[in-house]
Amino acid sequence: IRDDAELASSYVAEYIIERIKHFNPTSAHPFVLGLPTGSSPMGVYKILVEKYKAGLISFENVVTFNMDEYVGIPRDHPESYHSFMWKNFFSHVNVKPHNVHILDGNAPNLEAECVQYEEKIKKAGGIDLFLGGIGEDGHIAFNEPGSSLASRTRVKTLAYDTILANSRFFDGDVEKVPRMALTVGVQTVLEAREVVVIILGARKALALQKCIEQGVNHMWTLSSLQLHPHPMIVSDEDATLEL
Ligand code: GLP
Repeated sequence: IRDDAELASSYVAEYIIERIKHFNPTSAHPFVLGLPTGSSPMGVYKILVEKYKAGLISFENVVTFNMDEYVGIPRDHPESYHSFMWKNFFSHVNVKPHNVHILDGNAPNLEAECVQYEEKIKKAGGIDLFLGGIGEDGHIAFNEPGSSLASRTRVKTLAYDTILANSRFFDGDVEKVPRMALTVGVQTVLEAREVVVIILGARKALALQKCIEQGVNHMWTLSSLQLHPHPMIVSDEDATLEL
């Protein structure tokens, strides 16, 4: 728990930098980083970019996999997760474009796209560190309430609460928010060797409480983190109001 969002973001950014720097150089595969979108990780990306520009970290040998993507909006739509990631992070660091993986929400066969994504993760050696955020309903990636805790990458219909929450990025118009997304599954996240989740602000307080003080429950999918051997939640004070 850190006093505010900036300190929490800084903690997460430093943690990721340390992990990348001290990754076993003799390892058969490069460092594989799972990444989220949303407002919660924005501060982390900002600090990672600053540290890269200051010469303190390189992403040359980092492979990335994003958690999710909307279905049915063009890749270059300003609110697609492709656009978000390039705008806020990838364009500003030395990650190699062929090492960046983001689900394609316009793939002709969405189910095949999801199966291939899981295969790509496997081929890359699995995810070393999955960074995540949560929705107000406790979802991780787009694993909405009721998602199987054994789920893998798949097409998911968004919960109305999520559509409502994300409408702030679509001119406040719920009609403009996509109804479906592709998302890694709960199990895909749990298979990462380490999971770090950043939770900021009072609007996430109930979700944080449900996810860590109550039992493992598919209605609050982040609670599955209780089953993980190396989980970490980093929050600001405001997010702890219900603990
Ligand atoms: C979306 C994303 C989630 C993210 C959530 C919270 O639903 N799919 O991965 O955690 O938004 O977003 P924010 O951080 O903006 O509250």
